[in-house]
Amino acid sequence: MAAPRTLIRNAQVVTALSSERGDVLIQGERIVAAGAGLSAPGATIVDAAGLLLLPGLIDAHVHVREPGAVEKEDWTSATRAALAGGVTTIFDMPNNATPTVTAERVAEKLDIAARGAVCDYGVYLGATSKNVGLAARLGGEIAGLKIYLGSTTGPLLTDDWRLLYDHLRSTPEVIPVAVHAEDEQCLRAFQDTSASDHNRNRPPICAELAVHHVITAARAAGRGAHIAHASTAREVSLIQQARQEGIPMTCEVCPHHLFLTSEDALLLGGWGKVNPPLREPGEVQALWEQLACVDIVATDHAPHRSEEKDHAYEQAPSGFSGLETLLPLMFLAVREGRLSLQHLVRLTSTGPANLFHTHRKGRITPGYDADLVLVDPAATRVIRAGALQTKPNDTPFRGWHLPGRVIAVWRRGERVLTDGILTVEPGTGKPVALATL
Ligand code: DOR
Ligand code: ZN
Repeated sequence: MAAPRTLIRNAQVVTALSSERGDVLIQGERIVAAGAGLSAPGATIVDAAGLLLLPGLIDAHVHVREPGAVEKEDWTSATRAALAGGVTTIFDMPNNATPTVTAERVAEKLDIAARGAVCDYGVYLGATSKNVGLAARLGGEIAGLKIYLGSTTGPLLTDDWRLLYDHLRSTPEVIPVAVHAEDEQCLRAFQDTSASDHNRNRPPICAELAVHHVITAARAAGRGAHIAHASTAREVSLIQQARQEGIPMTCEVCPHHLFLTSEDALLLGGWGKVNPPLREPGEVQALWEQLACVDIVATDHAPHRSEEKDHAYEQAPSGFSGLETLLPLMFLAVREGRLSLQHLVRLTSTGPANLFHTHRKGRITPGYDADLVLVDPAATRVIRAGALQTKPNDTPFRGWHLPGRVIAVWRRGERVLTDGILTVEPGTGKPVALATL
């Protein structure tokens, strides 16, 4: 029997390069045609007039928490949150209670993901002093290598410059090396336990120093590195300078560093605590001005139990969920004239697909996976506690009115979300095919 076909008609089809009215034909798991005036007898027809069709988003920075802390999030709840937010692929970070730092841990996590995930996924390996060279051996099994230069949630910390160099040197260029760039020594020096201002406890200088060091190590190692959650304009311009010198550095920014400031953090208490911290308003404005030099936007979805985040600043853990607010926040930026739709797709879909060398993802092109998101740009939604898929069920964006309602999501050709209702079974997400060695 031929694979079922779906014809999405009259959508505004947005890609990294264009935004044009047109049709997209899906057959089985793939896009088979894209253009104007397509016909497909017998296909299910979706009338998308007035709606935007985007490639499914790829979030390269997600903390699923399973194994270890399923009360915060598990593979099913995280990936349901992803699909609800139009994200069809996630890459999971290694800082679990028992971190993902050996071949066995990677295999165990992939096994858990295979049983629980509802969107497609990859997992990072965490760098330690004992696993130099392992990323090369794991090759296409992992999405990338993650190095923590400053302490944050979980036990991973590699605050040793020789080790950073050795990991960069031993990891083939095709495997991204993502770095949490806050310098541990600097963090310790600035830690001011009397201040309940996270931005003062972990100031921009610690992030800038770390980025500077990573660039120096990358230059010496003869490869690039990816700076996770750049939170200051200075970090982005250092990366831009390194690129001009021929060092293939890349960087990501998170929506919360664009939409929230250190002033908001003071009001948000525990809910405003995140590493790196929310920055001063002038710094946030400068980061917006550097967006043209940023490779990807990723959420750093880092769920903790609501009860933990309800604590005062000092007691609360760092991080919060972001998968369900990513696309609406980026649409807000579009509505405010800060971003074009094509740029949005470059940052959230095509950019991460290129950076992580995903096979068949991040484009609306025949032969690619039919990972698609249909969005009503005119409809707004209020972010409410209790109405989210993520386990904490709350976010610092609670009460925000955001545009860009997700109407439908296709994951490899299957319609998995209709008008806010998810119809997916755990275990239907698949590992993403990544560039192998
Ligand atoms: O705020 C954060 N939370 N930053 C990180 O680097 C880690 C994350 C977490 O895993 O909770
Ligand atoms: Zn993170």
